[in-house]
Amino acid sequence: SSLLQDAIQKLAKDAVGRFVRPNQVVGLGSGSTAAYIVREMAGLKAKNTLLCVPTSLQIKVEAEKSGLRFADEGRIPDIDIVFDGADQIDGRFNMIKGGGGALLREKILISSAKTVVIVADEAKFVKSFSRSVPIEVHPMARTSAAKKLEEVGGRPAMRTLDKGYPFVTENGNIILDTVFSSIPDPEKAELELKGIAGVMEVGLFTRKSDVYYYRAKSDGTFEMV
Ligand code: A5P
Repeated sequence: SSLLQDAIQKLAKDAVGRFVRPNQVVGLGSGSTAAYIVREMAGLKAKNTLLCVPTSLQIKVEAEKSGLRFADEGRIPDIDIVFDGADQIDGRFNMIKGGGGALLREKILISSAKTVVIVADEAKFVKSFSRSVPIEVHPMARTSAAKKLEEVGGRPAMRTLDKGYPFVTENGNIILDTVFSSIPDPEKAELELKGIAGVMEVGLFTRKSDVYYYRAKSDGTFEMV
């Protein structure tokens, strides 16, 4: 709805104004919500002092349109702040991410940033997860990793585009969107799934400290939760 888009736009403005400081290295998540943040950054006075690290070509193109500058990848240890969206956020603020396939780079940035700001509309805030977990897998492990995912109770399905073409990530991997009947301990699940040979990254994000969550509401307002 356009009310919701209004809320996301207001939220983006608030988040950028509240958190961005001159000379920061800024990680940019991927997706439509992150794009609102990037568009808001176009108007910053300190814009030319910032160095951005994009997580996908999608957000890189948005950042170029906003006239943002890019850090070289060697600056990743010094990420000051990351702005990102999420696919679902559970009652304990664990997240499922990777709906756009950018989970590997998103997790690198989120796990090394001093501050993380997550923006999401209220439909994504749930009591417990109710969608599949995107799992990025090396193409060579397509069947072996799928088998191991089944052994731990998952139902993996290779993500495809129209006409059945496999979705290939920017890292040259495939995504197994994996349904679990429940995920009682997301932290444990994240580690266990990450331990499967050929699994490059898991779309469970369990970091909880120094993360700020913004919730855009369908009545056109937003709140920080
Ligand atoms: C990208 O791979 C994802 O992790 C995104 O953060 C997620 O899909 C949210 O995207 P939207 O903001 O477009 O819903």
